[in-house]
Amino acid sequence: MIRFPALALAVLTCIQLQAQRIAPILIETKNACMVLTVSGNQRVLQSYFGKKIDRPSIEKISGGREAYLTAGMENQFEPAIRMVHNDGNPSLDLRYVSHNTRQDGKVITTDILMKDPVYPVEVTLHYTTWPEEDVFSCQAIIRHQEKKPVMLTQYASGMLHFNADQYWLTQFHGDWAREVNMVEEPLTHGIKSLESKLGTRTNFYQTQFYFLSLNRPSDENTGETIAGTLNWTGNFQFTFEVDQRNALRVRSGINPYASEYYLAPNETFTTPEMVFTWSGQGKGQASRNLHRWARNYAVLNGKEDRMVLLNNWEATYTKFDENRLVELFDEGKKLGVDLFLLDDGWFGNNHPRNDDKTGLGDWEPNKTKLPHGIGYLVEESEKRGLHFGIWLEPEMVNPKSDLYKAHPDWILKLPNREENYGRNQLVLDLTNPRVQDFVFKTVDDLLTQNPRLAYIKWDCNRSMTNAYSPFLKEKQSHLYIEYTRSLYKVLERIRTKYPKLPIMLCAGGGGRADYGAMKYFTEFWPSDNTDGLERVFIQWGYSYFFPANTISAHVTSMGKNQTLKFRTDVAMMGRLGYDIRTNNFTPQDIEFTNNAIKTYKRISPVIQQGDQFRLVSPYEEDRAVLMYVNEQKTSSILFQYFTTPRRKNIFTNVRLQGLDPGKTYRIREINLYPGTKSNNPENDKQYTGEYLMSIGLNIAPRGFAVTSNVFEIIAE
Ligand code: GLA
Repeated sequence: MIRFPALALAVLTCIQLQAQRIAPILIETKNACMVLTVSGNQRVLQSYFGKKIDRPSIEKISGGREAYLTAGMENQFEPAIRMVHNDGNPSLDLRYVSHNTRQDGKVITTDILMKDPVYPVEVTLHYTTWPEEDVFSCQAIIRHQEKKPVMLTQYASGMLHFNADQYWLTQFHGDWAREVNMVEEPLTHGIKSLESKLGTRTNFYQTQFYFLSLNRPSDENTGETIAGTLNWTGNFQFTFEVDQRNALRVRSGINPYASEYYLAPNETFTTPEMVFTWSGQGKGQASRNLHRWARNYAVLNGKEDRMVLLNNWEATYTKFDENRLVELFDEGKKLGVDLFLLDDGWFGNNHPRNDDKTGLGDWEPNKTKLPHGIGYLVEESEKRGLHFGIWLEPEMVNPKSDLYKAHPDWILKLPNREENYGRNQLVLDLTNPRVQDFVFKTVDDLLTQNPRLAYIKWDCNRSMTNAYSPFLKEKQSHLYIEYTRSLYKVLERIRTKYPKLPIMLCAGGGGRADYGAMKYFTEFWPSDNTDGLERVFIQWGYSYFFPANTISAHVTSMGKNQTLKFRTDVAMMGRLGYDIRTNNFTPQDIEFTNNAIKTYKRISPVIQQGDQFRLVSPYEEDRAVLMYVNEQKTSSILFQYFTTPRRKNIFTNVRLQGLDPGKTYRIREINLYPGTKSNNPENDKQYTGEYLMSIGLNIAPRGFAVTSNVFEIIAE
């Protein structure tokens, strides 16, 4: 045997390692990039994430922190993954094995495979980029071949690492009827967690999004900002940990609360995608990135027009019958809407749904209210030129229902404890395949029996409490995860059979608004609070993450002190709809609404598909101003809403954005109430894009009423 001296052996090992040195792995978009490197001990490090940098700089990068931190070995901070092996060993060591990058159309994916050198466990980090939109996602795919299940107590989708002087976190918290309140605060040392443990309608108190701004708070147009979310319609958790050296680790994933996961040999645990975008130009650009990505990839029918609908909820609640509905169809026709949406209260016979105490689960039309069934309603609305849609809350059951009596074992409830209700109802055990069949069949039967049904509103009016799944038996800690997976299974089945049908996602107001769900839905219900003034803030809040075509905004009779014009102007910044009785409308109100709907249909391509610019925040001034600009920069719509105007206010010029500096635009105030003329100083003026974006418009009106304006800005 040839013997090498010790030094020679060391040199040889070093040469081998250098030969094996993996070139930096680049995950990049048009303006940003993430650089991952493989360390000497084969760990995968996130070495850089931020503004796109050139190749020579990338080649020089080394060091960093582990992209997917494990628990139990040398890491002393929050891990991305924690696993306990068959022999009780609670550690995981993930070493780089290989990676590959693929392009599919405009979308690029990179898989990085890592394995534990001792235990037969592998994790693939799956990165996706949408380069044009500057959007990234990351998810982990976890497998093993041990003899028995391993226990996972943490299974994040991914982590992001930052080194900055300061970190500013923007979150959106709320409650029923006061959703998405924006707060920006500096992160201090320790851990801040934004999370939900609600099981269903999980965004109720905390919206599933954040902005992280580096070094200073970001504004709409300046500052380095990351916007992040998780594609998961269930418990989520974002943790932000600032360590002793001021480094920040951001972890995103399913909330592991009460959810130890026993992963069987060869079973694949795929985490949801954490989605994030990088902007060097503040929150406005980050929002526009997500809006484009959403319309192009993440929302069902994201590029298609939305229907203007008339909903009967606030007009009738559950107190209606067939004749009343037909009268409402006539009102809808008079207004000029596309669709009538029949809300809650149409079902249940042994337990008629006349309030929220009975009937959920019994999806048969109530024979007293609707003696001729749904088919008749579809026909009658179509006779008036309206499509017809219907409300469902298929994941739930009232104890006073036939379903509850027939299938007590289909319900999430604790043994040996009293039932605990939310809105008098319980959640069905969707983890049970028979319940999944039931939910699918509820939707499928309705659509098979009424093939011309054109729209569904899918509601979910309670979160989980005292939850226990009869189906999962000893695997109760899988409940939260399996519930969401089961919901997706049902939605997949529905979408396979009905790929295009518009469906609104609703959860007792804005309790469910996430991109895990939105690939199955065309729009969502932001809040049961439809007061125009309140909606300025609520829709403003959602606009940070969702494009206008997904935000259902209805004109209702809430906010009685506001004019019909104000409430209409507010609803026009989203997907316009109505939920109002028109019997006390004056002829002018009808004329106004009729014209408003026509105007909306004309301008909605710009609102729904254009780029959005938030110009004046209602959090900073007593008004909100925002605009939408089409791709060609030839057409733009600007909304201005005064919130609490007072004499003290001085409203300065509003500088526009997103226009072509070289083009000349004409400003025209539109959506005026019949008999009124614009007295706005800028109405009918012409300016170049350069002027509008540098000097701006003096659009503050005279007087102190709660008022609003819509301007159309068209290139001549
Ligand atoms: C929830 C929804 C409302 C309405 C009612 C019906 O509260 O948010 O829009 O559909 O349920 O019960």
